[in-house]
Amino acid sequence: MTKSLKAIAQKLMTPGMGILAADESEGTIGKRFDKINLPNTLDLRRDYREMLFGASEAMKTYISGVILTEETLKQEAADGTPFRAILADADVIPGIKVDRGAFPMPGDTGEKITEGLDGLRQRLAQYAELGAGFAKWRAVITINDIAPTRNNIRANAHALARYAILCQEAGIVPVVEPEVMSDGEPGNHSLERCAQVTGDVLENTFKELRLAGVDLAGMLLKPNMVLPGINSRERPTVEEVARRTVEVLKAHVPAAVPGIAFLSGGQTDEEATAHLSAMNRIGGKPWPLTFSYGRALQNVALRTWAGRRENFNAARAAFTHRARMNALAAQGEWTNEMDRAA
Ligand code: 13P
Repeated sequence: MTKSLKAIAQKLMTPGMGILAADESEGTIGKRFDKINLPNTLDLRRDYREMLFGASEAMKTYISGVILTEETLKQEAADGTPFRAILADADVIPGIKVDRGAFPMPGDTGEKITEGLDGLRQRLAQYAELGAGFAKWRAVITINDIAPTRNNIRANAHALARYAILCQEAGIVPVVEPEVMSDGEPGNHSLERCAQVTGDVLENTFKELRLAGVDLAGMLLKPNMVLPGINSRERPTVEEVARRTVEVLKAHVPAAVPGIAFLSGGQTDEEATAHLSAMNRIGGKPWPLTFSYGRALQNVALRTWAGRRENFNAARAAFTHRARMNALAAQGEWTNEMDRAA
C-alpha cells in the first residue's frame, strides 16, 4: 500500500489535534436546525458550515481534518470561495462521508445495515479528484433484547471492509466507524454489555478488514466509547469509562492501526472531553487517541450562531473553546477547571 495513505493517517493524528465531523446528512442537519427553529435550506446549511470552517484559529491549531458531505465538498462560502480552499488555507485535510445511511435490516430485530457500496469505486475516484484525503463509513450496531445478531454484526463488518479497501485503492484513507449505539432505543443496557458487544464488533470488523486485504497502517478507527445505554440507571465514573474503553480496544484493535478517533455519540460536551482526557492519561496504549466529534464540538456553536451571520464571531469563539478543550484532552491535559474558567 502507498506511503501516502500512512502519511495522511499520521497527519490526521497530529498530537494535540483531532477531526471535526461536519458530515451531517441533509436529514440529520435538518433535525439539528429544527431544534433551534431554523428551516433546512441550502443557504443556511452553507452559512453554518462557513461559520465553522472560517473559525481560523480553531481550524489551524486544533483541527487536522474535517468530514464533509458531498454537498459541502463541492460548495462555496457566500463570497464564492470554495470551502476546499478555506480548509486548504488552514492546512486541514478534507474528508468525505461516503455511506448512504443506515437502513432497517431485513427481519424484526430493530437493527440497521449501512448502504452505499454500489458505484462507490466511481464516487471515490471523483472525491479523490476533488481533493478528499480521507473518508468515513458509519455502521450502526443496536443493543436490545435480541440484538445485535451475528448476522447484523457480520453484514456491517463486511460492508466496512468492502468500503475500506475501495478507499485505499483510490488513495483515500478509510475511517472505519462501527458505532455501538448508547443513545438508541431502548438504551437501557449496562456498561458491561456495551463492552462485550463493542469487543465482538471490533473483532469481527478487523477479521473482515484483514480478509479484504486492507492495510491497517493506512486506515483510522472511529469507535464508540464503552458506556451504559442512555436510559440505564448506571452512572460509571469518568475513570471507569476510560479504563473499560481502553481495555476493550487493547484486546481487539491491532497495534498496526495508526490512530483511534472517537465519536461523541450523544454524550454531553464535557463528558466527551473528560472521557477522552482520562483515556489519554492511561499509559501503555499502542495507538494515539483523539476526537472525531460531531455534536460534542458543535452543540454550543450551533445554538450561538442561531442562523445569523452577525453571530459568526460569537459562534466561532464557542467552537474554538470546545476544539481547544478537546485538543487538550487528546493529550490527557484537560481539566474541569480550565473548561469552566473560559
Ligand atoms: P457524534 O460525535 O455527534 O456522535 O458524530 C460523530 C459522527 O461522525 C457520527 O457518525
